[in-house]
Amino acid sequence: MENLSEEKNLELFWNVQFIYELGLAMMELDSFEVEYSTQNGLRSFTALDIPDIEKFSKRTAYFQTIDDQPTLYSKLVSKNITRSLNQYLTHWIYPYKGKFHPQMIRALLNYMQINSGETIFDPFIGSGTSALEAQLLGINCVGVDISEVCYLVSSVKTNSFNFVSQLKLQLEDFIKFLLENKDNNVESLISDRITKIEKEEIRNFFRVAELIAHSDKSRRRRKDFSNSFLVNANKMLTSTIDYANCIEENNLSLGEVSIFNKDARELEFPENYFDGIITSPPYSIALNYVENDKHALKTLGHSIEKVKDDFIGVRGKGATKIELYDEDMKRAYTEMDRVLKAGKYCTIIIGNARIDKEEIQTIEKTIEIFKGMNYELEKNIEKIIFGLYNIMQKESILIFKKKGTTS
Ligand SMILES: C[S@@+](CC[C@H](N)C(=O)[O-])C[C@H]1O[C@@H](n2cnc3c(N)ncnc32)[C@H](O)[C@@H]1O
Repeated sequence: MENLSEEKNLELFWNVQFIYELGLAMMELDSFEVEYSTQNGLRSFTALDIPDIEKFSKRTAYFQTIDDQPTLYSKLVSKNITRSLNQYLTHWIYPYKGKFHPQMIRALLNYMQINSGETIFDPFIGSGTSALEAQLLGINCVGVDISEVCYLVSSVKTNSFNFVSQLKLQLEDFIKFLLENKDNNVESLISDRITKIEKEEIRNFFRVAELIAHSDKSRRRRKDFSNSFLVNANKMLTSTIDYANCIEENNLSLGEVSIFNKDARELEFPENYFDGIITSPPYSIALNYVENDKHALKTLGHSIEKVKDDFIGVRGKGATKIELYDEDMKRAYTEMDRVLKAGKYCTIIIGNARIDKEEIQTIEKTIEIFKGMNYELEKNIEKIIFGLYNIMQKESILIFKKKGTTS
C-alpha cells in the first residue's frame, strides 16, 4: 500500500513568472490541504503530505510534475497549435482582446472549491475562457454575453468536439465549392453557404471561421479572403480534433456548457442557483468591445449604433460614461448576488482605468458594493495586465465569499 505521508517533489510550470501566479500556486496547495516547503528559486516545492494526490494531480493548474510525473494539465497544455503557451486546445479561436489567462481560471476554480458536477456562472463570458476551463475540470458552466460574437465563439470552442466527422465533411465541401467559384464574390458566397447549413453547431463553427477571416482582412493579415477562411477553418478543425483526442486519451469527463446571448443586467435564472461565479466585467472605458469587434458584429448584421446601447461601458461620454458604467455594473452585481447560493464564492477580475492621468476607482467601488451586499473580501490579489499600458497597468483578482449557508 502506498505510503501517504511520503514526501513528493512538485515543480511549477516553467512559464510561471509573476508573484500573483506563485500566490495562486500556493493557494491551490492550501485548498488541497497540502503541507509543503519551498526549495531554492521558488520553483520546486516539497510536499510533506498530499491527502488526495490523484485529485490534486488531475486538477492543479500551476504544477507541471509530481515526482517527475506529468500532471493532467501539463498534458492538456501540450495540445497547442499556437506559439502562445496558454492558447492550447480551442482557447486560441478568435482574436479576442482581454481574454482571461486560462491557467489562472483553473487555479481559481480550485481555490473556490468547485467540484465536478457543480455549476459556475460567468455573466460576461467574452471568448469563453472560463467555460472551457470549467468544462475540462468536469464543472458545468453557464455563460452570458451581450455580444453575439462572444456567444458564437464561446459555444464553438466548447461544443465542436462532438461534431468532428460532420465538420470534416463540411470543410471538404467548402474547399470544393471555393475551387469552383474562384473569381466570384467569395465573401457573400461563403456567407450565404454558411447560412444554409442546417445544423446549428456546424453553421456556428464556419461562421466563426468567417469572422476570423474578416478580422484577418481588417488587420491586413491575409489578402485572399477565401484562403483565409479555409486556413482558419482548417486550424479550428485541427484544434477540435486535438480536443476530441485529448478527451479520449485522458478519459476526461467534461462539464456541460450553456451559453446565452443575453444581458447580464437582467438574468432569467432562479435565486440561489449557482455554486460559484467567476468573471471579468467590461473594463469601464479601457476597452471598447463594440469597436474591437466592429467587423464581426457588422458581418452578423448588427447596427453598431444600436448595439452600443446594450454594451456596458460604451454608452455616453466623459463623466456621464463613468456614471452610466457604475449604474450598469451595480445592476449586474445585484443580479449576480441574486443567483449565487449563500456561502459560495464570487471572483471578479477588474482593473482601474486612467483618464487624463486620473485613476477611476473601479476596484474600490466594486469592493464597496459587495461588502454592502453582505460579502466578505477573502483575497485581493494584484496582477499585471499586458497590452493596455497607457490606460490600465494592473488589475485585481477580488475573491468574495457570500455570507450565510445554503441549506
Ligand atoms: C472583459 S470581457 C470578458 C472576457 C472574458 N473573461 C474572456 O476570457 O474572454 C467583458 C465582456 O462583457 C460583455 N458585455 C458588455 N456588456 C454586457 C452586458 N450588458 N451583458 C452581458 N455581457 C456584456 C462584452 O461583450 C465582453 O465580452
